Amino acid sequence: MTTTRQLFFLVTLLFFFEHVSALNANEKLIACCAHDPEIDAGCANKYCNFGQINQLMVLPFIAECGPKGKTVSRIWDCISSKHDHSACCTNQNVLPLCRAFCNASKSVPTDVLKYGFCTSEFDKYRLCFRTHLKHHKAIRQ
Ligand SMILES: *[C@@H]1O[C@H](CO)[C@@H](O)[C@H](O)[C@H]1NC(C)=O
Repeated sequence: MTTTRQLFFLVTLLFFFEHVSALNANEKLIACCAHDPEIDAGCANKYCNFGQINQLMVLPFIAECGPKGKTVSRIWDCISSKHDHSACCTNQNVLPLCRAFCNASKSVPTDVLKYGFCTSEFDKYRLCFRTHLKHHKAIRQ
């Protein structure tokens, strides 16, 4: 009985920490965007949130926030942490051409016509970026 109870306690504890660190990844993202004066506040509220963004929002995001100064590239920096996510993308089976977006340590391709179909890979990028942010500091606190 004691072993079962200890196991239950351990699982509860693991679930708790998993939950807390998942919240922290999103909190780090929100703070990173909120503390960048170059990011439009309306765009930050809408798109700097792992729970709210998905592949269908990529083009609306570019259409809405593209005209607002450096907002799009600065939000991308916060989300990607300017980190090289190539290994994670390979593990997630991101299409080879779309891995160009995984290496955020350099500037990403901006040819939407050529790479527009890569929005279908967005949920994989998001998983890689979120996992990284869970274990590392954001580029801005
Ligand atoms: C990512 O970009 C950096 C900077 O250009 C480069 O040094 C690195 O080799 C790239 N990573 C991969 C996997 O190509």
